[in-house]
Amino acid sequence: MTDNEWGREEGFHRETSDSRDEVLRPEVVVDDKDEAGLRPRRLEEFVGQAELKDHLEVVLDAARGREQPPDHLLFAGPPGLGKTTLAGIVAAELDVAMHITSGPAIERAGDLAAILTNLGDRDVLFIDEIHRLPKQVEEVLYPAMEDFQLDVVLGKGPAARSIRFDLPPFTLVGATTRTGLIAGPLRDRFGLVERLDYYNPEELKSIVERAAGILSVTIDSPGAAEIANRSRGTPRIANRLLRRVRDFAEVRADGLVDLTVARNGLALFGVDELGLDKVDRSILESIAITHRGGPVGLSTLSISVGEQPETLEDVYEPFLIQQGLIQRTPRGRVVTPATFEHLGVAAPEQPIEDPSLFE
Ligand SMILES: Nc1ncnc2c1ncn2[C@@H]1O[C@H](COP(=O)(O)OP(=O)(O)OP(=O)(O)O)[C@@H](O)[C@H]1O
Ligand SMILES: [Mg+2]
Repeated sequence: MTDNEWGREEGFHRETSDSRDEVLRPEVVVDDKDEAGLRPRRLEEFVGQAELKDHLEVVLDAARGREQPPDHLLFAGPPGLGKTTLAGIVAAELDVAMHITSGPAIERAGDLAAILTNLGDRDVLFIDEIHRLPKQVEEVLYPAMEDFQLDVVLGKGPAARSIRFDLPPFTLVGATTRTGLIAGPLRDRFGLVERLDYYNPEELKSIVERAAGILSVTIDSPGAAEIANRSRGTPRIANRLLRRVRDFAEVRADGLVDLTVARNGLALFGVDELGLDKVDRSILESIAITHRGGPVGLSTLSISVGEQPETLEDVYEPFLIQQGLIQRTPRGRVVTPATFEHLGVAAPEQPIEDPSLFE
């Protein structure tokens, strides 16, 4: 282990480690500022994900009863479904502090050591994008998760010595958009691994109505349903569309959000009946029209729509696949007849290759 991996020694003192805590991704900061007031704080305010909520309630109740921190928890699923919100709820329900960081923000083992030594008794440590933790950092995390122990190696070569610190018992809450990328040993150390699913229209409708209440937007039931139906199954998008429709209602209507205002507002911002936005449609058009239905490889697709391959895989594709508009085959992505219908274009003369041939 090199000096570099551990960072400088003063990194372990509390005074200097403070600033390392709560290292947020820039997009999370923006997101938090916008959405802070909309985030449910308690489990009972959290809409949907009934099974997950049930599991969490049992785990949290049991921990409270035993006066111990609960097992480490891992939440997986596409962006905007409530992973960060759940981490906050866990801390609030346990009445402890939450320390927030993310996989890419912890570059060296010493960064993690600084964060861990700063935790209070039973605190929640939230690591977003935990699949992006560097390998050498992950290795420091294992004994911390298992035995609340921190092994620090000081110096190098023959003079190196290892010091073991006791950490307070804490709960690690991990979030990831990619369960597949989490190393087995890390995954196994979580006592509860939960996957978040897309929300159904009724759940999204109550999320829209709840947010409208907080934002003092006057909305009727068909207006809320329209926004819910076009939210890609995602609460973050539901809240965002509500804010845009509110803008539209204030500027181009009398402030009340009803069905017509919702429809016109959403049309103005380029959200179609399925909730697809410009990027979604350019993905579908690229495969359906430019590549005659596919198959198209991920990297080609990424270049033609101007988005990173990871963004396509994490953010856009899951919903398009769930909607039956795209299929993944070993030779690349293909669209389905539903896509041509949605785009309003004729399917190419040659039949689309049957994706099942390649499975
Ligand atoms: N179940 C829910 N009920 C009500 N609102 C919700 C729910 N889930 C999420 N939200 C809202 O959606 C927003 C986004 O949720 P959150 O930030 O927790 O998503 P995330 O899964 O952490 O996304 P990312 O992967 O991008 O970090 C929150 O600010 C919150 O207002
Ligand atoms: Mg998040």
